[in-house]
Amino acid sequence: EKGGYDHFMLKEIYEQPKAIRDTYRGRLLREQGLIKMAGVEDNMKKFLNADRILIVACGTSWHAGLVAEYVFESFARVPVEVEYASEFRYRDPIITDKDVLIAISQSGETADTLAAIKLAKSKGAFVFGVCNVVGSSISRETHAGAYTHAGPEIGVASTKAFTTQITVLTLIALRLARAKGTMTSSEYRTHLLELELIPEKVERALESDSTIKEIAAIYKDSPNCLYLGRGYNFPVALEGALKLKEISYIHAEGYPAAEMKHGPIALIDEQMPVVVIATRKGHYEKVVSNIQEIKSRKGKIIGIVFEGDTEVKGLADHVIEIPETEEALSPLLTTIPLQLLSYHIAVMRDCNVDQPRNLAKSVTVE
Ligand code: M6R
Repeated sequence: EKGGYDHFMLKEIYEQPKAIRDTYRGRLLREQGLIKMAGVEDNMKKFLNADRILIVACGTSWHAGLVAEYVFESFARVPVEVEYASEFRYRDPIITDKDVLIAISQSGETADTLAAIKLAKSKGAFVFGVCNVVGSSISRETHAGAYTHAGPEIGVASTKAFTTQITVLTLIALRLARAKGTMTSSEYRTHLLELELIPEKVERALESDSTIKEIAAIYKDSPNCLYLGRGYNFPVALEGALKLKEISYIHAEGYPAAEMKHGPIALIDEQMPVVVIATRKGHYEKVVSNIQEIKSRKGKIIGIVFEGDTEVKGLADHVIEIPETEEALSPLLTTIPLQLLSYHIAVMRDCNVDQPRNLAKSVTVE
């Protein structure tokens, strides 16, 4: 049932090219220049009239929501607020019938997310679900939605759910951008084309597995690890840190790269591995200067870079290359090495990768 893989997590990491393709199949019609999603089409007025979009979720799904915030705001110029469902539901949030709330959940059973949906509905908001499990409580409780067609995710650490959530949310953002005219048609077409190329680029990103395994062997006994990223890749830094924490029990933190000098830089010494996402298009020079600051304090740099990068190569202790894409789509690729890194470290530490201690696949109690 693990299809020849040692763990479900590894199988699910490797399923991502197919999962992403399944998620956009029939929705991304590149040749016609169209995106078709019934749940969005049928409710287009609600989306277009919304003053803002609220996104609620927990854990990895919340990280997908943060990526979506950047994507929606830049593509469709609509203000987005992303919240932990557990915080949102208890702070008497201001919600009106002009709000669209998007709830993201792999399982569709997360108690806090479900409660947030009920609250938003009671205040008149339009609630849209992005779930993986068909027929789940959240998919039934929402007014409309779009499934991620990732297939069953068994490993407690969410992997293919994350990348397929980002895929669905990017499709929605592109559809809204088209409807609102907030993106030029050439930009729009470039993004459709690039999105369609993502599965094969994920395949290429997976080819770095042996390099990643070597890096894992070097850092497997580190007590701490920092993850830095900016822009679209700030949430990926958070997700990389969560992945390492939950399956290897190494303390890890993700930060927007520029926040480093506001505190976390005090942690840097020769013992500290720092994973830095430094894709060429996203605030690149600024991230490079962050890398220099870490180097001068003897931190160890693991750089995640686009193929052909030269600047980070000269500075970092290790680099992991991924194929180049549009910056807004890069989280779909930068995530891959971070998943593999945490996987290999956890295996080397003899951790129970698929069922980490104290965790359940779906959190149905608050
Ligand atoms: O099923 P959901 O997407 O609602 O689950 C949300 C979180 O519990 C989940 O993403 C959790 O953080 C994962 N273990 C992360 O790998």
